[in-house]
Amino acid sequence: MAAETKNWRATVLTLFPEMFPGPLGVSLAGKALASGLWVLEARDIRDSATDRHRSVDDTPAGGGPGMVLRADVLAAAIDVADTSSDRPRLLMSPRGRPLTQSRVAELAAGAGPLIVCGRFEGIDQRVIEARRLEEVSIGDYVLSGGEIAAMTLIDACVRLLPGVMGKLASGTDESFSQGLLEYPQYTRPQEFEGQPIPEILLSGDHARVAAWRQAEAEALTRARRPDLWAARPGQKRPKSPTDG
Ligand code: ADE
Repeated sequence: MAAETKNWRATVLTLFPEMFPGPLGVSLAGKALASGLWVLEARDIRDSATDRHRSVDDTPAGGGPGMVLRADVLAAAIDVADTSSDRPRLLMSPRGRPLTQSRVAELAAGAGPLIVCGRFEGIDQRVIEARRLEEVSIGDYVLSGGEIAAMTLIDACVRLLPGVMGKLASGTDESFSQGLLEYPQYTRPQEFEGQPIPEILLSGDHARVAAWRQAEAEALTRARRPDLWAARPGQKRPKSPTDG
């Protein structure tokens, strides 16, 4: 008998489980969820509180504003949610490593992550270390909690799962993995507010169209994302003062 392959699963630990599936319940991800291509499990961290008031946070040691999520409560929530050791354990945090398309592809290829959504001023550092949480940021700005960041990460993974997008995903993803932003797209009408579609796109000459798109993608990337442009594959790393 063939080994049973389990569906990709996202387990989310949050103080606001009612936020899920939210936007993940509609459109592409929602259809895939409804048809069982992936599984979403939103778990309430508060269910692991042990005191009468079901408290999950406390004031920061050393003083300062806000509240910190308790290590013991979060550790218990992780332990009951995650029985397998091979799933990545992520903590959504503006302090984390920036999420990239290549990390998304790795996460999509695995069993699916357990994702902790931060709230308050932060999370007790000891649970981050003791449960080996990988801190992940979706950008250099601060959200009011990790839930929307978790949804972003899950959405990016789900569209890569087999059967979710089919061929549609490959074009844009390939362009990103080449380290370039996507070229501009056009469709009918042929003229919009006096602006025609670039003539070359109507020429039927596939080689010229491909060359035009490549040039547009390169120009956009240079102008908007000099960081991506400098780091694109095949590019020589600039010599650093520490090089021999
Ligand atoms: N939580 C709050 N801000 C965040 C960010 N930028 N990325 C991930 N998680 C967050």
